[in-house]
Amino acid sequence: TEETLVLVKPDGVARGLTGAILARIEAKGYALVDIRLVEPDRETLAQHYAEHEGKPFYEPLLEFMMSGPSVAIRLAGNRVIEGFRSLAGTTDPTTAAPGTIRGDFGRDWGLKVQQNLVHGSDSVESAERELAIWFS
Ligand code: GTP
Ligand code: MG
Repeated sequence: TEETLVLVKPDGVARGLTGAILARIEAKGYALVDIRLVEPDRETLAQHYAEHEGKPFYEPLLEFMMSGPSVAIRLAGNRVIEGFRSLAGTTDPTTAAPGTIRGDFGRDWGLKVQQNLVHGSDSVESAERELAIWFS
């Protein structure tokens, strides 16, 4: 069965939304294989976000991801990669569809980084790469 990496990012943890987000994941029927509180260092985040190096939001993104703990989740289920991305909604929380995690709980706070509550791997290759980073 397929696996994906989900992160409840620092804004989700700080706002006390971890339980609400987990409830949606569980209600959808995906299986929690592993879950842990993480406080990643710069090197870990540089690996995780390697594809975004050099983009204008890269530095603010790393700073934000080091601003507090996140919750890392190894999630399993048939088509879970696609399924969790659908639960999460589109990247920009202001316009993410209501009914999604980002659409219901997120918005633009006028900061340099888009605080959009969750991360989900975007392909089988990304999932394998990212799971090795966060659950090695
Ligand atoms: P993830 O599941 O977190 O990977 O989100 P995504 O796949 O929807 O977005 P992407 O991988 O393109 O970007 C990673 C993260 O960088 C996003 O979740 C945002 O926090 C941030 N980000 C992406 N694009 C922008 C942008 O155009 N502006 C700003 N300020 N932040 C961005
Ligand atoms: Mg992404």
